[in-house]
Amino acid sequence: MSKKAYITTPIYYVNDIPHIGHAYTTIIADSLARFYRLKNYDTFFLTGTDEHGQKIEQAAAARGKSAKEYADEISAKFRALWDDFEISYDCFIRTTDENHKLGAQKAFEVMFKNGDIYKGEYEGHYCVSCETFFTDSQLINNEYCPDCGKVTTIVKEESYFFRLSAYQDKLLKWYEDADECVIPKAKKNEVISFVKQGLRDLSITRASFDWGIKLPPSLGDSKHVLYVWLDALVNYISALGYGTDEKNISYWPASFHLVGKDILRFHAIYWPAFLMSLNLPLPKHIAAHGWWTRNGEKMSKSKGNVVNPREVAQAYGLENFRYFLLREVPFGQDGDFSQKALIDRINSDLGNELGNLLNRIIGMSGKYSGYKLDSSSVLKFYKKDIDAADAVLCSAEAYMYELQTNKYLEEIWKILTLANQSITIYEPWVKIKEGKNEEAAAIVALSANLLAKAAVLFSPIMPKTAFSIAKSLGFELNTKAYEKLIVNKNLLDKTVITPIAPLFPRIEKELMNTPEPEAQKKEARKDEQLISADKFFNSKIQIGSIIKAETIEKSDRLLKLSVDIGEAAPRQILSAIKAYYEPKNLEGVQVCVVTNLKPAKIMGFESYGMVLTAEDKNGISLITPQTLKDVGAIVK
Ligand code: ME8
Ligand code: MG
Repeated sequence: MSKKAYITTPIYYVNDIPHIGHAYTTIIADSLARFYRLKNYDTFFLTGTDEHGQKIEQAAAARGKSAKEYADEISAKFRALWDDFEISYDCFIRTTDENHKLGAQKAFEVMFKNGDIYKGEYEGHYCVSCETFFTDSQLINNEYCPDCGKVTTIVKEESYFFRLSAYQDKLLKWYEDADECVIPKAKKNEVISFVKQGLRDLSITRASFDWGIKLPPSLGDSKHVLYVWLDALVNYISALGYGTDEKNISYWPASFHLVGKDILRFHAIYWPAFLMSLNLPLPKHIAAHGWWTRNGEKMSKSKGNVVNPREVAQAYGLENFRYFLLREVPFGQDGDFSQKALIDRINSDLGNELGNLLNRIIGMSGKYSGYKLDSSSVLKFYKKDIDAADAVLCSAEAYMYELQTNKYLEEIWKILTLANQSITIYEPWVKIKEGKNEEAAAIVALSANLLAKAAVLFSPIMPKTAFSIAKSLGFELNTKAYEKLIVNKNLLDKTVITPIAPLFPRIEKELMNTPEPEAQKKEARKDEQLISADKFFNSKIQIGSIIKAETIEKSDRLLKLSVDIGEAAPRQILSAIKAYYEPKNLEGVQVCVVTNLKPAKIMGFESYGMVLTAEDKNGISLITPQTLKDVGAIVK
């Protein structure tokens, strides 16, 4: 029996459509699941949607829909996105699934039987947006949620409580014994200090609304529904059949629960306490990543700067997007999305390093050996390069287990650099001239083998790209290839190379048509060269009066203006305003004219100055003085 791996993402609330943050968590989890599969682990990868609670009830009501109708709609959107992204989940759970309900009720029942649940009265504050209870002292200004800043509501109702306080010491012991139970370390330390401040019992039912899972029938209390976080956390075992057929329960405990830092507390405190109460083993790793911002700003619907993952993937390619997300930020730290950063990664790491290497290999093998690739002489000439690469690749894997995907990729990219360099340094074209054909073939094979090894290891992150490369190099990318090329450090068999089109065409400009976020504009302003007032007044701007305006044959943009600026004769000035003004309506209109410009010839006509205009999405308009001025008056 092969070893098992169980990877999960959070189940996402259905109050909103998926954004880059959701895609990030899901893509890391997907890469990790693919990594385990490559290593022949029997792998189960779970994702899904979190559909109960007040927040969803309210979001549905605001749209005039029933909660279930609304949940169906948004859940389907998440699922469709993950399907389009070829996320390799084994199960997509919905908390409205019947099996999940039974699992959650079973969990409540067991914790109740084990004496960890009692009935009482809850009085305190509740943040609907975070679905979290807060005490007076936790609130900001007695009113606002310390996590999201929104106004909280006061809740006073009968409630069942979970004896979280009884688990404080057990949790602290777990953090101490299981060194990597929460990663990264800094996040783990935050959890520990939170727990050390003391844990209160947790309200785990709600009585004042009903969009949730009812208490187990055995309790005979139909007033209550489960608190949505208890409901949600149980998904990690109900998806394996807990409380129903237990079909996949042998995957438990989870190898990795991937979460954002926003929900670490629920996963690293409540969830293990619930599991202890259920007498179930604890997850091996709870891994919390940082927050994505856009051009340095928090993303929000009101700012209109939310990055839509589908749009990014469509514009830049899904695999490039996956590479960027996992390469750009160290796991656990916050990351910033900008098209510029993405384009840089694509052009340099992917285009220059990876794509270029494949092109060179294809080109050389075509020229020197009719596309035949033979690795048999590589070790004879270049053993030290192969050994160096194998050593790097061997140590790279450790980063993946810590989810340091940026380091993992960095290590793999060292191999690509090595391959590119070896071509440059060993100069196969010179060897060919010298008649050293065997050595030239060995150089080509050396770089092809390095690329093959790298592709195997980055295949969890860029599956399609890795498969195309493998196909071009003539090997099949699967667990066997992993064992052969990585574990046993062997080389490719004799193969034939198939030329393919370049994988990463250079991107010259931003491809997404989104409004430019504020922060970026501010940046641009900062970068602009400031000028002195003197410099500004190098341009002489004067009030002029349009005497005549005429169209020009063959130009649909230009009007030929005759403008009086108080000189002996009116000036002829061409201006690209034809689409916005009727010529006859312009007669008598006052405008601002830059009068000390060098004359220019436009479509065969001299233009002696420039009329100032402003342009926005509604078009162009002339700048006019607010009240009539003498012609020739200076604008300053
Ligand atoms: O919290 N940057 O669901 P949710 C990075 N249903 N990651 C982000 C992000 C951002 N700007 N925004 C969201 C819930 N995420 C609960 C979970 S689990 C038993 C229940 C990601 O829809 C990140 O993974 O609010 C975060 O933890 C998750 O989305 C929150 O998703
Ligand atoms: Mg959230």
